[in-house]
Amino acid sequence: MRVYITKNYDEMSRKAANIISAQIILKPDCVLGLATGATPLGIYNQLAEWYNKGDLNFSEVITINLDEYRGLGAESEQSYISYMRKNLFDRVNLKSENVHLPDGRNLDSVEACKSYNNLLAKIGRQDLQLLGLGRNGHIGFNEPGEFFEKDVHCVELTQSTVDANKRFFEAGKEVPTHAYTMGIRSILRAKKILVVASGEDKADAVKKVFYGAVTPKVPGSILQLHNDVILVCDEGAFSKCRQ
Ligand code: F6R
Repeated sequence: MRVYITKNYDEMSRKAANIISAQIILKPDCVLGLATGATPLGIYNQLAEWYNKGDLNFSEVITINLDEYRGLGAESEQSYISYMRKNLFDRVNLKSENVHLPDGRNLDSVEACKSYNNLLAKIGRQDLQLLGLGRNGHIGFNEPGEFFEKDVHCVELTQSTVDANKRFFEAGKEVPTHAYTMGIRSILRAKKILVVASGEDKADAVKKVFYGAVTPKVPGSILQLHNDVILVCDEGAFSKCRQ
């Protein structure tokens, strides 16, 4: 594993964006695995800025996202497809037919997961997979459990996640209780994995994921078994690894 420790969030974002842009320059038709959440926002801003300057071209890039809420599609601001359009897809020259997420509007979980699994198989391995880390060590929506879920699957969100999500939804609107996510095998298929983390509230997760036991109780810990992982995190997120 290669580790880059940066002074702060902005530097972390720039470093990670540099790694992603190097990938696109080296292989213009690469497959990028993408994540949502707060951490990648600075990366997507930086990539859009470099695209605007003419330094990056996404015209042949293919993207596959980690996850999507079951029941939500592009009509909902809270869906991950809306997040991706707003923060990256609509800001660069990615072709709409080249971007992929699980189909949250398909309420038939078995069918939705099977069809995303088939799509991932058809597209082939990610050249680079971007990952954020949950405070409990989750990756994608793979939450701590008794075993690693291998392929795309439907997860029931914990009550605390549902409650935390309520603030993003208008009163009376239904908050999703399930999500579709890539499994651990879908993630580990990537040729290279880029993990980003920022802030002291991620310090426990970074320590457990990269320096603790490999266990499904800390899903991200499986990344220790991948042979090409790059961790880019700021001082805060790395602070517990120095002790
Ligand atoms: C996002 C995802 C999640 C997040 C993780 C960290 O697609 O799958 O695993 O990467 O929850 O989220 P933030 O960056 O908001 O702390």
